[in-house]
Amino acid sequence: MEQEMARRAGQIDEVVKKYLPPEEGFQRTVIEAMNYSVLAGGKRLRPMLMQETYRLFGGKSRVIEPFMAAIEMIHTYSLVHDDLPAMDNDEYRRGKKTTHAAYGEAMGILAGDGLLNYAFETAVLAFEIEPENKNIARALKILAEKAGIYGMIGGQTADVNSCGRALDEEQLLFIYRLKTGALLEASMLIGALLAGATKNEQRLVEGAAQDLGMAFQIQDDILDVTSSTEVLGKPVGSDEKNQKTTYVMLKGLEQSRADVEMLSKQAVRRLESLVVKNEFLVQLMLFLSHREK
Ligand code: IPE
Ligand code: IPE
Ligand code: MG
Ligand code: MG
Ligand code: MG
Repeated sequence: MEQEMARRAGQIDEVVKKYLPPEEGFQRTVIEAMNYSVLAGGKRLRPMLMQETYRLFGGKSRVIEPFMAAIEMIHTYSLVHDDLPAMDNDEYRRGKKTTHAAYGEAMGILAGDGLLNYAFETAVLAFEIEPENKNIARALKILAEKAGIYGMIGGQTADVNSCGRALDEEQLLFIYRLKTGALLEASMLIGALLAGATKNEQRLVEGAAQDLGMAFQIQDDILDVTSSTEVLGKPVGSDEKNQKTTYVMLKGLEQSRADVEMLSKQAVRRLESLVVKNEFLVQLMLFLSHREK
């Protein structure tokens, strides 16, 4: 599975690269910082989930590609800003210096802004591929909402506000659903929508992505205490340093692991209630529950 994921991540890299801005002009510093952040690596999980959900519903066109690049740009911007001194203050990401550590704090902020904006400049290019496709406008709306104050930014806000404060389970799950779940929901939902899935199918996919997102963030918290910087490519102990309440703190390691497993299986069960099938997508979702990075 890991090998197959790496192979597909390589193909996704080619798509993403095609849409990155050329490093030229008086503003080239910010463009270099943007490209540095995106090309530093990463599992490319969100574009992968988007593409596989698109395939699940029979999608065959290149119209998905600008959206695949766009979601990775938004995800990368969320990481660049998450690592800033004012937020988690981390020095390593994807095995390299974080963007602000390599280019300075101002460029870290601007590269994040640049990626967020460029994501939409990129996603609208889908109209050039299928000018008559009304689902493109709907997909843009999802991308915007899931990244925003009712999605990822909202979750990051509650996360930052919670530093040094004890949270209960309900508050913590709210944060996870938004800060991490929202972009996974956007990924799978946009894949489904652009392939022409029905409203019911979209709801089901959104539910599966929500479970997957929760499992993914709990696993991220587990790895923050059990892994190493070499394996993760980002610092361990970041949550403790920032006095974050995590799922592992509330439930303990063993229960957290069991819940990751349970949530991933629940996500898969939801998908498997569909008539359409994509075995790679199922295997990918199950693999993520015991991922090591
Ligand atoms: C990291 O996401 C941030 C979280 C939402 C936990 P990933 O683990 O997908 O990071 P990359 O893209 O592989 O670097
Ligand atoms: C990240 O949560 C969620 C984002 C939207 C970036 P974390 O702060 O736990 O992510 P990592 O561990 O730095 O990747
Ligand atoms: Mg954070
Ligand atoms: Mg962080
Ligand atoms: Mg983390």
